[in-house]
Amino acid sequence: MAALIVDDVLDVTRVRADFPVYDRRREPPLVFLDSAASSHKPRAVLDAMDDYYRTTHANVHRGVYAMAEEATARFEAARAKVARFIGAASSREVLFTKNATESLNLVAHSWGRANLRRGDVVVLTEMEHHANLVPWLLLADQLDLRLRYLGITDDGLLDTSDLETALDGARLVGLTAMSNVLGTLTPVRQVADAAHAAGAVVVVDASQYVPHLVTDVAALGADFLAFTGHKMLGPTGIGVLWGREALLEAMPPFLGGGEMISDVRLDGFTCNELPWKFEAGTPPIAEAIGLGAAVGELERYGMEAVRAHEVALTSYALRTLAGRYGDELVVHGPADPCGRGGVLSFSFRGIHPHDISQVLDQAGVCVRAGHHCAKPLMRRLGVGATARASFYVYNDEADVDALADALDSCSELFCF
Ligand code: ALA
Repeated sequence: MAALIVDDVLDVTRVRADFPVYDRRREPPLVFLDSAASSHKPRAVLDAMDDYYRTTHANVHRGVYAMAEEATARFEAARAKVARFIGAASSREVLFTKNATESLNLVAHSWGRANLRRGDVVVLTEMEHHANLVPWLLLADQLDLRLRYLGITDDGLLDTSDLETALDGARLVGLTAMSNVLGTLTPVRQVADAAHAAGAVVVVDASQYVPHLVTDVAALGADFLAFTGHKMLGPTGIGVLWGREALLEAMPPFLGGGEMISDVRLDGFTCNELPWKFEAGTPPIAEAIGLGAAVGELERYGMEAVRAHEVALTSYALRTLAGRYGDELVVHGPADPCGRGGVLSFSFRGIHPHDISQVLDQAGVCVRAGHHCAKPLMRRLGVGATARASFYVYNDEADVDALADALDSCSELFCF
């Protein structure tokens, strides 16, 4: 197998050769800059899922025949890979869900209902994705909770200037590890330490973090960490909730049905052990196996190399866009490429982001436009929407150049 890392740098030509989406001939060629919404899938992931369906498909944890046991072994091997990838103490702490949204809803419904009472304080941040806002807004309505928000500084950082006051009396703190709009990497450990000192548990939305940086749940200091497979080279339909074992043990199940029980009587039931207590019904078996393969690919690149690649590309993009457009193109979020991920949300010469996205598409450049499921953050930034380019392992400087060139056409069309 050809080396993917040459002189400590990810070899994008070789990486791309593993992604069938780049095999399709397109004119203009594909410039995919929307991995923050969903990444593409390497051959190893597609093959793992295909092979499972072709050779080994059977329901898991049920059949006692050999093929069912093999399916179970593959499914649980994927869980073990995910556990190792994020530094979990054991596979028992890794729950498979449908996506990060379901993971966060699981915490709100199960931990939240069991532990929060009328008047309790939940602290979130102004840069949360709706997935880490709406479950808490719903719960606040139902239980009469008080919500408080950590603000954002003008340079797009999380405002931690008075954490002690902000977290005073908090029972739960929810924050993103990396904003899907600003790219901001938040000081999770600092907030977690302050939250724990205040007696709160910490829920981290790591949907944009786990795919791009080395993740160690112990070092982050989180109590729960949610992420999704499809942004990290895996398939859709599979998400993860990691939680501290003692917390998960004490929590009631989220959904009821088969698999999550060890006994059912007409007058009650006994829960299954972790992690299956939280996995009612037939799980997304092929998707979990695909996620395991995605983790294998990311480990093959090395997460340090992935991060270094994205810092270099983000730095190049910030320089290129500033050099070409100066103040007429505003990139929201931190200016330092080391303090952010490879997500560039921008406003350009007053052109509507949807118009930008459509004109870029004519040049083969795929970016997301809209509110990015972060409407409170849009309001804080004073915009209705932004255009957003995001990078991953298969992007290179030529993609950034293509973006900058296509923005020229946009300018010609709309600014005369
Ligand atoms: N949460 C995804 C995004 O930021 C869909 O685009």
